[in-house]
Amino acid sequence: MPEPLRDIGGSQTAPLLELRSVTMSFGGFVAINDVTLALEKKPVYGIIGPNGAGKTTLFNILSGFYRPKRGQLLFKGENMTHMRAEQFARRGIVRSFQITSIFPNLSVMDNVVLSVQCRKDGGTNALARSDWYGDHRQEADALLDQVGIPPSSREQPASDLSYGRKRALELAISLAAGPEILLLDEPTAGMTAADVSRITDLVARLSAERTIIIVEHNLGVIADVADEIIVLQQGALLTRGRYEEVRKDPRVIEAYLGKRQ
Ligand SMILES: Nc1ncnc2c1ncn2[C@@H]1O[C@H](COP(=O)(O)OP(=O)(O)O)[C@@H](O)[C@H]1O
Ligand SMILES: [Mg+2]
Repeated sequence: MPEPLRDIGGSQTAPLLELRSVTMSFGGFVAINDVTLALEKKPVYGIIGPNGAGKTTLFNILSGFYRPKRGQLLFKGENMTHMRAEQFARRGIVRSFQITSIFPNLSVMDNVVLSVQCRKDGGTNALARSDWYGDHRQEADALLDQVGIPPSSREQPASDLSYGRKRALELAISLAAGPEILLLDEPTAGMTAADVSRITDLVARLSAERTIIIVEHNLGVIADVADEIIVLQQGALLTRGRYEEVRKDPRVIEAYLGKRQ
């Protein structure tokens, strides 16, 4: 049984997101080992670390996709440890899905309209009524503007979009869910240089209105967008701080170089 927590309804002074002694293992393998971490309302957190450090596992814990084996996760003081991903999303903790959330046969527009509707009715009767369709198009248009998908591409099937645009659509779908915390796992993976700089700009813009937690192995992207870096190594928190600080940390340099061999 988890130990009792303060103020179960949440608190004004609690960190935005907090991990207390969180451990996650797969079989006998410990991927996240006793991590304690408090995140405040900040524009952009970057999570970095060598391959296998536990970044994606931590990401999945922070977004409710994995339940920690031990320890607790709190959102504004509310114990979320045993909640499901949809309950995280309902509270505004939303992750991007790397294209798997896109319905390929639906139009670009309808993908976003559907996501807006899911937010409004909790996903319970999204397909049962259609009187909301016109209303939601406006919001969807604004979101598609925000992520830079032009009007001329909005009525085509989502499957026709280029890879970079699919990632942008996926972001619009995530934004339609109304995130207070938006989690992005390697949003620039596989992208061309032009798409990378577009995503970097977009993350900077989106962070004006919400906290973004970004896992990224492209350190250039992290240097550009992150206000604070969290460095993982072998499932543990190695250090945290501003990019200029952590990049000079001998432990961080060794963690990266040591893996490269
Ligand atoms: N579902 C899983 N089953 C078994 N082992 C896993 C699973 N997910 C991750 N791991 C292991 O946990 C470690 C951390 O993985 P991951 O969080 O994906 O690291 P990163 O994203 O930093 O590269 C790796 O050694 C990986 O093999
Ligand atoms: Mg990963």
